[in-house]
Amino acid sequence: MAGSTDPALPSQRLLGKIALVTGGATGIGESIARLFHKHGAKVCLVDLQDELGQSVCDSLGGATNTACYLHCDVTVEDDVRRAVDFTVAQFGALDIMVNNAGLSGPPCPDIRDAELSDFDRVFDVNVKGTFIGMKHAARAMIPRSKGSIISICSVASAIGGLGPHPYTGSKHAVLGLTRNVAAELGKHGIRVNCVSPYAVPTSLAVAHLPEDQRTEDVMTGFRSFVGAHANLKGVELTANDVANAVLFLASEESRYISGDNLMVDGGFTCTNHALRVFRE
Ligand SMILES: NC(=O)c1ccc[n+]([C@@H]2O[C@H](COP(=O)([O-])OP(=O)(O)OC[C@H]3O[C@@H](n4cnc5c(N)ncnc54)[C@H](O)[C@@H]3O)[C@@H](O)[C@H]2O)c1
Repeated sequence: MAGSTDPALPSQRLLGKIALVTGGATGIGESIARLFHKHGAKVCLVDLQDELGQSVCDSLGGATNTACYLHCDVTVEDDVRRAVDFTVAQFGALDIMVNNAGLSGPPCPDIRDAELSDFDRVFDVNVKGTFIGMKHAARAMIPRSKGSIISICSVASAIGGLGPHPYTGSKHAVLGLTRNVAAELGKHGIRVNCVSPYAVPTSLAVAHLPEDQRTEDVMTGFRSFVGAHANLKGVELTANDVANAVLFLASEESRYISGDNLMVDGGFTCTNHALRVFRE
């Protein structure tokens, strides 16, 4: 079929679906919103960055009533309640909720210097924000006995040493919430999953490039650092690769998958090359 890499897949895999994407103004969230829209979904994106969010919405044809933007701080329950209600009022229902908004917090290589205010902020957005998103998505989905809730987690949900303590703790918590909420919502026909990417060149990730790896062109430095530590060589992970994994979990192709943490990491978290078993 035209526009699809697999002849068995329809070119519009989310035709008729309605999605809400948090943190949709930039980075991975923007890619998810764009890909969902391309696949026929009506998309509401929410963020704190109103100008950017509105311009993504406009470029998706906001005027055609297939995309909309709303200001929403995911740490504020009333904002998220309003975002879900707004999506349902605009488009008629909520089929797919993507909890993507996230923060990494500042680098802090020594636990003795850790600021609890940084810890609180990261947990507020990454954990509480995701939980509120799950709660209000469930409120809209349970009466229809269907839906797919997808949270953007991280390779930091699987192993330690990949980010600051609050970030790693928060992503382990998102995985725990995913499994627990999947356990509750299965009886309502609602699937709950998360997606865990390796490093993608966004503002969140680039801020964590070690000082000694910073070149004049920060993106070039980032790509070479990330590529050198990747397991899978010859392929550079992009936000669109993450969006494709989210699309799969949002679509009917994954209709029996729930409680899963889909790694988009080229095998990074399941291999360890420290012992150089496969050295050349
Ligand atoms: N970039 C990576 O390498 C990487 C790797 C693994 C996981 N992730 C995860 O992917 C998700 C998206 O990250 P990204 O890399 O695209 O970062 P990004 O900084 O480019 O985008 C994050 C978006 O979330 C929004 N946001 C932040 N706090 C918010 C709040 N309280 N309410 C609403 N919106 C808020 C920001 O304004 C921004 O638009 C995060 O959950 C992140 O932890 C990223």
